[in-house]
Amino acid sequence: MATIQMFFTYFTLISAFMLPAFGDLSPDFYDEVCPEALPTIKLIVEQAIALEPRMGASLVRLHFHDCFVNGCDGSILLDDTPTFTGEKTAGPNNNSVRGFDVIDQIKAAVNEACVGNVVSCADILAVAARDSVVALGGSCYNVLLGRRDAITASMDAANANIPAPTLDLPDLISNFESHGLGVEDLVILSGAHTLGFSRCVVFRNRIYNDTTCIDGDFAASLQAVCPASGEDNNLAPLDESPACFDTAYYQGLVGGRGLLHSDQQLFRGDGSLTDELVSKYSENPDAFWADFGAAMIKMGNISPLTGCDGEIRGNCRFVNGD
Ligand code: HEM
Ligand SMILES: *[C@@H]1O[C@H](CO)[C@@H](O)[C@H](O)[C@H]1NC(C)=O
Ligand SMILES: *[C@@H]1O[C@H](CO)[C@@H](O)[C@H](O)[C@H]1NC(C)=O
Repeated sequence: MATIQMFFTYFTLISAFMLPAFGDLSPDFYDEVCPEALPTIKLIVEQAIALEPRMGASLVRLHFHDCFVNGCDGSILLDDTPTFTGEKTAGPNNNSVRGFDVIDQIKAAVNEACVGNVVSCADILAVAARDSVVALGGSCYNVLLGRRDAITASMDAANANIPAPTLDLPDLISNFESHGLGVEDLVILSGAHTLGFSRCVVFRNRIYNDTTCIDGDFAASLQAVCPASGEDNNLAPLDESPACFDTAYYQGLVGGRGLLHSDQQLFRGDGSLTDELVSKYSENPDAFWADFGAAMIKMGNISPLTGCDGEIRGNCRFVNGD
């Protein structure tokens, strides 16, 4: 036992001196410390998606909402405490984000599969998002690992930082810029809306009041599931194949069938840069899959906690010791 610990101490010291990027994320972070971590996450994600395909969408979204609020630090997973109100009940999340039980299941399984509590909740979110994309037909990308978990969360920060579906293109662009992401990243990451569903309350205004860039038959068919008032929680798919990681989302935008106002803002038919990008992806699944993976890695690099910052939570819902 002592020898093993000495080996790891020695290994860590060597790494600290030899790797210039020590402290940053790396794809092989768990290879030595827990080789079972990634296969364990993948198995549970696949099981959850087999039970309910939408869970893949929900897990992808959880990683996005985590990263856009003080970085990818697992803060979205924290339950409220007497000292802070967390992110779960913030406007963009309340009655909307889901998948917490699957994350709990994964955390319990990796704690079992590894020696001790070594896999962060923030990393679990990043890996579960990737595994969901792959399970639903996207291509694989190497998730960078080594994030640590936040010891606090903020409802106000979630309200301030997650973009709203009512935003126009300039505000979507500046929101993404505030997270270090460009216009290309906005268009490609919005492609995640090839998966999953939205509630009537979110898209009502779009199907009754958005006169530009909306297909008439599309609006009429949605009005049948989403009345002008009431039935707020009725769901409609974000594209026509919500359990398939394909380019139907972009094809829908070109045809005026974006479900959210913010989606259709990416294609307004004015030949702008975002129009061109949407057209390109609508016709090129390989470009979509490759660029999506690269952009997810970039999003996953938003302000991670590394080194001695934060902690590895034993339970994703609570700060250690609470
Ligand atoms: C560009 C700005 C974005 C806006 C305004 C936005 C907004 C929304 C809204 C309003 C919903 C439906 C929520 C509900 O009805 O409760 C939704 C769903 C979803 N969003 Fe986004 N989103 C954006 C970008 C992203 C990004 C970057 C990702 C991931 C990389 C993402 C992934 C998803 C997924 C997968 C769903 C479906 C979730 C499910 O079915 O459980 N979104 N989004
Ligand atoms: C979240 O949703 C619940 C159930 O609809 C509601 O009672 C609560 O007031 C909401 N919380 C916030 C902070 O808006
Ligand atoms: C449409 O817009 C009008 C004017 O802003 C508003 O009063 C009405 O409630 C909206 N209708 C729906 C169904 O969103």
